[in-house]
Amino acid sequence: MCGIVGYIGKRNATPIIVEGLKRLEYRGYDSAGLAINKDGKLHIYKAVGKITDLERSLPEPNVTFSNIGIGHTRWATHGKPNKTNAHPHTGQYGKIALVHNGIIENYKQLRQKLTTEGHQFNTETDTEVLAHLVEYFIEKEQDFTSGVQKALKLVEGTFGIAVIHTDYPENIVAARKGSPLILGIGNEEFFITSDVAAIIIHTKKVIYLKDGEVVNLNHEKFEITTLDNEAVKAKISEVDWDVSSIEKGDYEHFMLKEIYEQVTSVENAFRGRLMNKLSTARLGGLNITGNELRKVKKIQIIGCGTSWHAALIGKNMIESLARIPVEVEYASEYRYRNPIIPEDTLVFVISQSGETADTLAALREAQARGAKVLGITNVVGSTIARESDGGVYIHAGAEIGVASTKAFTSQVTVLCLLALILGRMKHLSAQYGIKFLKEIKRIPQKIEKVLNLNEEIERIAATIKDSKNALYLGRGMHYPVALEGALKLKEISYIHAEGYPAAEMKHGPIALIDEKMPVVAIALKDAIYDKIISNLQEVKARNGHIIAIATEGDENIKDLAEHVIYIPETMDIFQPLLSVVPLQLLAYHVAHLRGFNVDQPRNLAKSVTVE
Ligand code: F6R
Repeated sequence: MCGIVGYIGKRNATPIIVEGLKRLEYRGYDSAGLAINKDGKLHIYKAVGKITDLERSLPEPNVTFSNIGIGHTRWATHGKPNKTNAHPHTGQYGKIALVHNGIIENYKQLRQKLTTEGHQFNTETDTEVLAHLVEYFIEKEQDFTSGVQKALKLVEGTFGIAVIHTDYPENIVAARKGSPLILGIGNEEFFITSDVAAIIIHTKKVIYLKDGEVVNLNHEKFEITTLDNEAVKAKISEVDWDVSSIEKGDYEHFMLKEIYEQVTSVENAFRGRLMNKLSTARLGGLNITGNELRKVKKIQIIGCGTSWHAALIGKNMIESLARIPVEVEYASEYRYRNPIIPEDTLVFVISQSGETADTLAALREAQARGAKVLGITNVVGSTIARESDGGVYIHAGAEIGVASTKAFTSQVTVLCLLALILGRMKHLSAQYGIKFLKEIKRIPQKIEKVLNLNEEIERIAATIKDSKNALYLGRGMHYPVALEGALKLKEISYIHAEGYPAAEMKHGPIALIDEKMPVVAIALKDAIYDKIISNLQEVKARNGHIIAIATEGDENIKDLAEHVIYIPETMDIFQPLLSVVPLQLLAYHVAHLRGFNVDQPRNLAKSVTVE
């Protein structure tokens, strides 16, 4: 949620940190700060608001020139977003600066203990307590690394931290537990970050630190240890994201760019995974044998937000193609219930970031109960990717816009493949497999066709931009798409929107319908087309303002809907991949026309690494 960037090397750290923080702004954007170690002194700069506010508040470059520094962009958890609460925080003796992602659960007890030792605090934040604790132990141990190790052993909660200290002017120490931290390896320089997006313009060589690891860096070398000071031999990985994936290019917003990227990101999700000879697909990383898969009697898919919506679509696909019962669970509920995981159940966790705290906790809960848990993630090396027993990358590339778009369609694509694999292992015919494989290859160009409707969708958006509420209706597989459309609209335009199974409308929400209520209906030609048409007649009878997503060639729907957005015909299983695109564009344009920052909606952060 927050972002960390640290630099040590021969260049000026400040512009590298500021640039890195800008790339992480999508993770948190209420305040920011940086600290450099210069001439044996710490210089700390902080600002409320955007990174540009921090940048503007910095003194002349020669004042901030230093080869070592750390920075942070914040999304407030403890304490208001103001300058005092912004990171870096310092300790009692003013010797350290510390930036922190995560939450220290026992900070009140630690604060009490430190207070009895004479420590005085300037804020109510957990991070300031952590800074005091770390500084206290460095002083006690007379060693940077072991001071950090000793302090962190007392901490309950999650952390990714980076620390600089006046007594160790050539070192940064960083550590993680439950919050991502990555070491970037350059040429006589190192970077520390919570997200590779901050550093890939400098290096693609990285080490994903593991929980409980501490790294001490100077500009020549790094040393990784555990909290118990055991040496760690870490694996260097190569980031496969392109620099262009973290740039906006010619687009006004990342969200729009990512909506357009779906033509290629969907293809990347199935490329190399189709097995024409056997009329099925292959998901290499699942780490499960065909025999084991054949024995699966039940599937649980766990996720949050948009990923949860993708899971609901996955349920529909797997149940209809493979006849295996699927339960979809909110990770936040699953982890605190007493979930039942019958024998022969396969659990999937689904997460774009691979860092969502609730999903990670659900994964651990399911594993603790003996289940095999597979991950469907986007971010390579993320905690969920590493901790699951196997899994699939969706290969969507960096998703920077806070509202998830291309990750959703890539998740759905992977779930389509999974449904096909499971189906073909049971009773799905080879003919269906052949048809599936032929059609999935056409989906990218069909998405492109939908994207060509952008201007028309913008005009429709203008007709609903001043609405206070909106209702999204769909049946079957289109119901989760309706949920996703409503989520997109509410999170970036702040219009209250609800997704509903179309037929449920008459059991309550129909009372809300009047001439001011836009009703977005996914009314595609499929087995239940007639049913949704009846539901729309009910809406029309109450003067609702209908916007229909319909199948090309469906002229009748024009009698009901004020606006019709036509999408190409496809097999039922692929319809969500097309129908969600106009809903993404609709939400984008409504928010844009209302004048909101589409990429950084208020109160939201890209990856929710706290409960
Ligand atoms: C909505 C959105 C969120 C995420 C949710 C889970 O546009 O992006 O609802 O889908 O926070 O995030 P991941 O998939 O990273 O676990």
